[in-house]
Amino acid sequence: MSAEMKKSQPAGAPLLTVENVSTHFRTKRGQLRAVDGVSLTLDAGEMLGLVGESGSGKSVLGQTIMGLVSDGGATTVTGEIRFQGRDMQALTRKEQQALWGKDIAMVFQDPMTALNPFKHIGTHLTESIRAHLGLDKKAARERAIELLRKVRIPEPTRRVDQYPHELSGGMRQRVVIAMALACDPILTIADEPTTALDVTVQKQILELLDSLRKEMGMAGILVSHDLGVVAGQTDRVAVMYAGKIVETAPTRQLFDDPRHPYTQALLAAIPRIESSPHTVLEAIEGGLPDMTKPAVGCSFATRCRYAQDKCLTTEPALVATAETASAAHPHQAACHFPVGTPEGIAALKANEKAGRTATGRKLDLETV
Ligand SMILES: Nc1ncnc2c1ncn2[C@@H]1O[C@H](COP(=O)(O)OP(=O)(O)OP(=O)(O)O)[C@@H](O)[C@H]1O
Ligand SMILES: [Mg+2]
Repeated sequence: MSAEMKKSQPAGAPLLTVENVSTHFRTKRGQLRAVDGVSLTLDAGEMLGLVGESGSGKSVLGQTIMGLVSDGGATTVTGEIRFQGRDMQALTRKEQQALWGKDIAMVFQDPMTALNPFKHIGTHLTESIRAHLGLDKKAARERAIELLRKVRIPEPTRRVDQYPHELSGGMRQRVVIAMALACDPILTIADEPTTALDVTVQKQILELLDSLRKEMGMAGILVSHDLGVVAGQTDRVAVMYAGKIVETAPTRQLFDDPRHPYTQALLAAIPRIESSPHTVLEAIEGGLPDMTKPAVGCSFATRCRYAQDKCLTTEPALVATAETASAAHPHQAACHFPVGTPEGIAALKANEKAGRTATGRKLDLETV
């Protein structure tokens, strides 16, 4: 961290503040609200899981935070993003580039797109090391080997001179992680870093990311469509639906006491090792709404088992639960009839009795 940056961050302020950020794309079908009024904070060294189904806006949010999506042309970015107290949108291109790969790094889903097939593994690492840390060729190569060792790649002195295709998928993802860590970033955004890998390798990579984060004191955002993936890796979780955060809480609290029916449904869809092979996972019926249409009411209403008339007309605000309202990181949900509350229980009972919800979704008593 540079002295200038350290100075610019007020004491006790979060490392990252995202305030009412929206990213809209102009498309043929109209204005697509990929991210729609998102606010979140991240403390130094903290890990946040960003979860939601495909198309909910997770990657666009991650890219907007990184400054990879900027305002202009067919794209509109509004709101405020502060990293170490600095307004990210006010940075010049040069200042942005100095930040990327140095203080903020991103790990992408598919290692092959992040790696150039014609470049040695070592070159991928030394380019960034030399640019940001100003090391000479020899010192940069030594640092590259040290990084490969750090991400537990066997025989790093041999691997450093190999091409990406000579490595397995899991090892390539380790190289991508090593690239992200090359300059000791303060914040890493990992966008579905294990989706392309098989389950065993997935677990190894997640454990590696977790231990590196602890060792290096990095903060991170782990993007995933799977709550199971973020379970053991994060301090807090934010659940995204149709461009908005619909629930956020410390991880344990979110798993133990979900308030939003969407979170509850995501939790029900996590495969459990201890469950019998015949257990049928509960899929969430329906799909995301058309994000080019103006949102009226709650965007989850048509798929929700709790939906009442109010959900069709009034958009629920993201509010803290009474018990956590004064906590540093309160448990917040955007729902008129939260799961487990008297209103929620009454709403579900009324829908069960009627056999349908206010949006006409039929409720099969067997599955409720
Ligand atoms: N450059 C773009 N122009 C227009 N629409 C876009 C653009 N990038 C993303 N979108 C749209 O924004 C919405 C959110 O996309 P995003 O990639 O953030 O979803 P996601 O939550 O990351 O999904 P996945 O789990 O599949 O990665 C989608 O409807 C997508 O089609
Ligand atoms: Mg994505």
